[in-house]
Amino acid sequence: MKNTGEDLEGELLTVIQSLKAHIRENLDFPKNLSHLCMRGEVPREGRIHSLSIMNLEEVREELGECRRCSLWQVRKNLVFGEGNSRARIVFVGEAPGGDEDIQGRPFVGRAGQLLTRIIVAMGMERKDVYICNILKCRPPGNRNPRPDEINTCEPFLVKQLRAIRPKIICALGTFAAHTLLKTDVPITVLRGRFHSYHGIPVMPTYHPAYLLRNPGAKKQVWEDVQKIMKAL
Ligand code: URA
Repeated sequence: MKNTGEDLEGELLTVIQSLKAHIRENLDFPKNLSHLCMRGEVPREGRIHSLSIMNLEEVREELGECRRCSLWQVRKNLVFGEGNSRARIVFVGEAPGGDEDIQGRPFVGRAGQLLTRIIVAMGMERKDVYICNILKCRPPGNRNPRPDEINTCEPFLVKQLRAIRPKIICALGTFAAHTLLKTDVPITVLRGRFHSYHGIPVMPTYHPAYLLRNPGAKKQVWEDVQKIMKAL
């Protein structure tokens, strides 16, 4: 029996729907994404949130007034992250401190001011980059993030990075480096060379708060950011 035009159209729609579902389920960004781009199936500059990737506003919306871990009980403000949604570089820190908790913005205290100076020394401004943290809420007394808090919050960092698709990630300090790279190799060993996060180069370096306590380490951070600038 011959297929009618309507049958063919229906079949085609079914194939398209199952292809979309397949891509949604199997998307391993950015490897598969660039693969699709190369085949011309997704506009190079296009976002594919229509298939599965959320934009930053959607990620923020999903996070909502988060109560997924106990830190909501002690926070003043949730600190989502800020900057250029199409940034070529994303800086990932540990967790908001006191100033960040009050203002609801990442890296605005003393360590943040140092980070801002580093960004300017790299020839950029804060609005050119994206800045966020592993944890979106301040741990009481700035204690270290706990593994359960990291596990609960990490999916939102993953979605932020998926939305931005930066060329380079700079992991600031031990917690950012360990969380992104799934390792517990010391930051002293990790820093200074590129690693990979789903195909995105990651440069771990010392946290600006560490630099405030150990100004001698600024030289190494400067070496690390120069490698980033060269790669960009
Ligand atoms: N330290 C961090 O890791 N993040 C901030 O936002 C501020 C200080």
